[in-house]
Amino acid sequence: MIGNWGSTGRPRLVLPDPPLQVGALVLRPWEAGDRDALAAAWADPEVAQWTAVPDGRGPKVAARWIAGGCRRRDEGLALDLVGVSVEDGRVLGEVGLSAFDVERGAARIGWWTAASERGRGVATAMVRALTGWAHGGPLALWAVVAEVDPANPASAAVARAAGYELLGEVQGQLSGGSMTDSGTIDRLAFVSRRPACGVTDERESAARV
Ligand SMILES: CC(C)(COP(=O)(O)OP(=O)(O)OC[C@H]1O[C@@H](n2cnc3c(N)ncnc32)[C@H](O)[C@@H]1OP(=O)(O)O)[C@@H](O)C(=O)NCCC(=O)NCCS
Repeated sequence: MIGNWGSTGRPRLVLPDPPLQVGALVLRPWEAGDRDALAAAWADPEVAQWTAVPDGRGPKVAARWIAGGCRRRDEGLALDLVGVSVEDGRVLGEVGLSAFDVERGAARIGWWTAASERGRGVATAMVRALTGWAHGGPLALWAVVAEVDPANPASAAVARAAGYELLGEVQGQLSGGSMTDSGTIDRLAFVSRRPACGVTDERESAARV
């Protein structure tokens, strides 16, 4: 078990402080006023196809999900952040950590970019920023894992652009940042590992946002 995690087996999920900012994009927790933008993203067929969106994904469900963000952090379940434009506050996308594995110091990362904001580095910027914080901030994760459907090359490209390495194609589910063979889902598993002591990732962010 690693030092900064609670004795309950779940991490203490605090928000990045100061908030993570890459160029004109800042990551912050979801707020009530984001409800319609979140519902619109969930209604996007691509987001619905490749990410786990709740059933009944309208504004009411979005409002409830947003209201639950603080509880999900308190309970060590998930840290969900929204990427917004510094200039006008519009929602650009989402990135989040979940499935924390206290023994391995690992978690899963997921993301989406709003349909109108794609193709200019939003996902790459969000994933890079949160991954860097996950390794170097209070969570000090050893590994952050991304599960990508092989039929979703755009998302595989995001993982690579954000510095993740392909672990392999797995039959089964990634659970808590580790692989199990209990399922039958094909996934490409990408991993970002914590850099060796004192070595930070100096590569230029691919962000064009
Ligand atoms: C996949 C997705 C997140 C990409 O978001 P984005 O902000 O447009 O991505 P970026 O601009 O950061 O692009 C990152 C890389 O992906 C590539 N890419 C983006 N869209 C692509 C597409 N449709 N096909 C192939 N490659 C694509 C870019 O060329 C870039 O690669 P490069 O660095 O080698 O140039 C977005 O299309 C999306 O939200 N899809 C639906 C939800 C989803 O798939 N979530 C991930 C589930 S694992």
